[in-house]
Amino acid sequence: AGNAAVSTGGRLQWSSRLTFILAAAGSAVGLGNIWKFPYITGENGGGAFVLVYLACILVIGIPVMMAEIMIGRRSQQNPTGAMATMAKEAGANPLWKGVGWMAIICGFLILSFYTVISGWTLSYTVSSVTGAFDTITPDAAGAMFGGMLADPAQLLMWSTVVVVTTMYIVSRGLHAGLEKAINYMMPLLIALVLVMVGYATSTGHFAEAINFLFTPDFSKLSTEAVLVALGHAFFTLSLASGAIMTYGSYVSKSTSIAKTSIMIGIFDTAVALLAGLAIFPIVFAYGLEPGAGPGLIFVTLPIAFGQMPYGTLFGSLFFVMLSMAALTSAISMIEPTVSWLTEKRKMSRGKASALVGLVLWTLGLGTVFSFNIWQDNTLFGKTFFDAIDFLTANLMMPLGGLLVALFAAWVMKSNVVKEELGLGGGLLFTAWQFVMRFITPIAIVVVFLNALGFINI
Ligand code: PFF
Ligand code: NA
Repeated sequence: AGNAAVSTGGRLQWSSRLTFILAAAGSAVGLGNIWKFPYITGENGGGAFVLVYLACILVIGIPVMMAEIMIGRRSQQNPTGAMATMAKEAGANPLWKGVGWMAIICGFLILSFYTVISGWTLSYTVSSVTGAFDTITPDAAGAMFGGMLADPAQLLMWSTVVVVTTMYIVSRGLHAGLEKAINYMMPLLIALVLVMVGYATSTGHFAEAINFLFTPDFSKLSTEAVLVALGHAFFTLSLASGAIMTYGSYVSKSTSIAKTSIMIGIFDTAVALLAGLAIFPIVFAYGLEPGAGPGLIFVTLPIAFGQMPYGTLFGSLFFVMLSMAALTSAISMIEPTVSWLTEKRKMSRGKASALVGLVLWTLGLGTVFSFNIWQDNTLFGKTFFDAIDFLTANLMMPLGGLLVALFAAWVMKSNVVKEELGLGGGLLFTAWQFVMRFITPIAIVVVFLNALGFINI
């Protein structure tokens, strides 16, 4: 992890607890909070979905995050090595290593579309700088987004820029600089989201948005929506995809895993809720469709920037920050694959990055074409993008999270886990263990089987 980590007896470590928190927060906060959370909330009817999502963060996301950081730190390895080593220590089946494999593959698949969406934010940065949002009408904003999607060459150009930039940074191991940059970018991103929330209060539809986000109407909640909420809890916290486990492997013994996980969970959730409070007043003020899908922020925000004072400046800054937030998440997704190639396959960092970039770019074509020439090529009603999104967030992540929970709470030795987590030996640890042994696995299995139609609750 570059210079942000210092070597202590062979293994790299974050130079301080704060560096780790920043890196993990940089991984967590990204498109998931600002792009995905608002649009899936809109698609799934609001309040009840948000409530289920919050419950998933609390009961499943944060406890699983603690387990992942613990496994990373104790094993001091990348996800496959980590799972293998921990299984060995516990005298368990070596096949547990597969959980690490699934995580690496999952992170890789997510990145294949994440780079394309990051490309949209870059494209919108340029649009903002050139004043394209100025007094834009809702129809024109919709047409602008539609025009971008209809142009595969443009999408491809932007996603290529993202892939090349990410790979360049990863190949140089420049994380140190990047983690420092997060120091400044995160507060600025939050400040800009707050500016947007401030603008949103002036639309006259703020109360409507609050009502939409926080008044649960369970009749609007489908069984699939519950699975989407569960999957998003993993996605938004960067779980079950190698990122947090790998970052955890650089954490020092003196860091409290419990405290850090809770802080990251709260921070990530706050950013998502603020994004919702910024977007939905605009949606209602302009009579837009909350369930419009992945284009939601790309249609609503330009309208707001086009209206507000200094909109060009705020809009440009906003999309730059969002691109950077996406970049720090992208890097955390790719680190497990590249470190596996360099450590296990003895490839140079440069070669590994180039190879990974090429495969990613190729896979990204599927997402690029999902919005235009392959729009109607669907499998089970899903485009390539929808299918990868569903496969990762709604199948692989809940399954990976389930296995991590079972492993940490049943397979690893209780006293080892107790010592690692830093919850003390009392009630808090007992509560964590009870949740991870029973609540988390049962909840995941029930949501899973219910959404896939195997049971009916
Ligand atoms: N947590 C990131 C977000 O909310 O945008 C997405 C993500 C990053 C998912 C890293 C998975 C991952 F490994
Ligand atoms: Na997130």
